[in-house]
Amino acid sequence: MIELKNVKNYLAPLPVILITSRLQEGNINKDNIAAISWAGICDNTPHLININIAKGKYSGQIIKMTKEFGVCIPTSKHIKEIDICGSTHGNAVNKFEITGFTSFEAKLINVPLIQECPINMECTLEDVISFESHEMFTGKIIKTYVDENILDANGKPDFGKIDLLAYLNDEYWTLGRKLGNLFYTGKK
Ligand SMILES: Cc1cc2nc3c(=O)[nH]c(=O)nc-3n(C[C@H](O)[C@H](O)[C@H](O)COP(=O)(O)O)c2cc1C
Repeated sequence: MIELKNVKNYLAPLPVILITSRLQEGNINKDNIAAISWAGICDNTPHLININIAKGKYSGQIIKMTKEFGVCIPTSKHIKEIDICGSTHGNAVNKFEITGFTSFEAKLINVPLIQECPINMECTLEDVISFESHEMFTGKIIKTYVDENILDANGKPDFGKIDLLAYLNDEYWTLGRKLGNLFYTGKK
């Protein structure tokens, strides 16, 4: 093991998710999608998540105004569209148009969700915590959608049926194979 000269954050793997938001101007909806990997779970009663967005990004500005956002879990099938969502800016382009992603309406919030993503969640903004370069948005999940084709006999998503993406070190990876169930060594 060698010590690095500079501190690095090699926390890995990180998820690759798509965050949707909508700016409504009169009758016109400006819908947006951002690719995000700095994301995690904060709590489960209720279900709280966090997404971290660089200060000044269009998505962050909209979410602060509207206090709601969609969390859409894509698969490797759409790596190109994901990369486009992560390298273009919603104030300059319509990402639904340039990627060809199909939107469907969230039920409890005024935000588009993404048909091509097997999991979609509606979130209301709980808090925004400011750091040096990024802001952490915590959101409460208030509705969850799962593509019926990926459900197992118990009604839970079978992640073996989809090919999720991970973000590592500025690279896209897929997850490999299932090795076992949680607590397979026995809960003490
Ligand atoms: C795989 C991937 C992960 C990303 N993760 C983040 C992230 O966690 N936080 C962030 O601020 N930007 C992240 N980005 C960059 C944003 O998606 C990018 O700045 C995008 O242009 C933001 O969209 P907007 O300007 O429409 O808000 C990521 C990009 C990619 C491709």
